[in-house]
Amino acid sequence: MALLTSLVFTDDAAFRSEAAALLRSGPTPVSVSEERPAGSGHADLMAVDGRHRPDEALATIERLRAASPNASIFMVASEATPDLILKAMRAGANEFLTWPSSGAPFHEAVARAASRRQAASPGGGATTLAFIGSKGGAGTTTLAVNCAVELARMSRRPAVIVDLKPGLGEVTLFLGVRSRYSVLDAIDNLHRLDADFLKELVVKHKSGLDILAGSDQFERPGGGDSGAVEEVLRLLTQQYAHIVIDAGTQLNACTTAALYMADTIYLVPNPDVPSVRNAQRLLDRLGQLGACGERVRILLNRASEPYPIPPDQIEKALGRPIDQMFPSDYRTVSTALNSGVPLSLTTNGELASQFDSFARRTLGLTEEPAQGRRGALGLERLASIW
Ligand SMILES: Nc1ncnc2c1ncn2[C@@H]1O[C@H](COP(=O)(O)OP(=O)(O)OP(=O)(O)O)[C@@H](O)[C@H]1O
Ligand SMILES: [Mg+2]
Repeated sequence: MALLTSLVFTDDAAFRSEAAALLRSGPTPVSVSEERPAGSGHADLMAVDGRHRPDEALATIERLRAASPNASIFMVASEATPDLILKAMRAGANEFLTWPSSGAPFHEAVARAASRRQAASPGGGATTLAFIGSKGGAGTTTLAVNCAVELARMSRRPAVIVDLKPGLGEVTLFLGVRSRYSVLDAIDNLHRLDADFLKELVVKHKSGLDILAGSDQFERPGGGDSGAVEEVLRLLTQQYAHIVIDAGTQLNACTTAALYMADTIYLVPNPDVPSVRNAQRLLDRLGQLGACGERVRILLNRASEPYPIPPDQIEKALGRPIDQMFPSDYRTVSTALNSGVPLSLTTNGELASQFDSFARRTLGLTEEPAQGRRGALGLERLASIW
């Protein structure tokens, strides 16, 4: 599933933010650009406020339809009269929705918009994967970095990892690279952010993965950056096939914006009491946010015998299955970290084979037997990379 970009056409600020919240809260990832002036712009999905002045809304829809033949256009009205529905369809609207809305009709209309977009560009579109830890030190960065490297290597399509951890991010450290710029440079230069500028801001890893480095300021990115973060991620979806986000462990407005845009949210707990307890709380909160509940998957890190809490009990406590388990292997992880070479590229063990399996599943590739694969490919791959 790919992210849908959207715009809300209205001069009513309250309606704009309520409609934006509703669009974002469904199972289909939607970004809502709130920076644009009403009446201009292009997006996959455009919702037009026709509650008070339906004739103006119909004229807007006609204009939008002429400019964007493949966009999904929603007419939002205060009531559904047969005459107005007919006029909206004739003007070029794909959907007619009444306001206020219970939510479900909007979400169903968004799902249809996603199918339309998919049909218009089969195979296209970026996949955004967000990793969030259930507590500090759970291994979120370890999993995000190694999964991203494997995705970049295996897919041979453009991939980027974005370090969104508030405060000091560590993704570049894990990959043994230095970056002159960070995600804050993208956020603070939104007005001139385009494909060329983005290219300047990312640093390249030898595996093919691009990195948008983490913040070097303790307080940022914070709540005030959430709109800009959403815009940066939206731009990245136009340049990359895979976007991996290290969201850290805090659920602030900024990380929430990223989670809303993610196709899949990977929650990373360890098999211990504080971690599982926090994971429960995070799942509750994500459920309240709407979108996220259905897109969350559990990656249990440091999953090795003897378990402080066995996996089946963790599944019971969380009320959902564990998607994948990554064993505890401190020596391998710390060697990779100290050398700055991702462990998915260097080692031959169980942990590396889990990253391989993660990438294969994400890319929809068939699994290969783990035995021998990494030994044979590892050196060859390393030689071609370094
Ligand atoms: N599967 C594992 N086995 C053993 N050690 C691990 C494993 N995963 C991560 N670690 C170690 O745990 C520590 C924390 O890992 P990492 O920095 O990835 O966690 P984090 O959740 O991103 O932390 P933070 O909250 O600081 O961002 C590191 O020292 C790392 O080497
Ligand atoms: Mg981290």
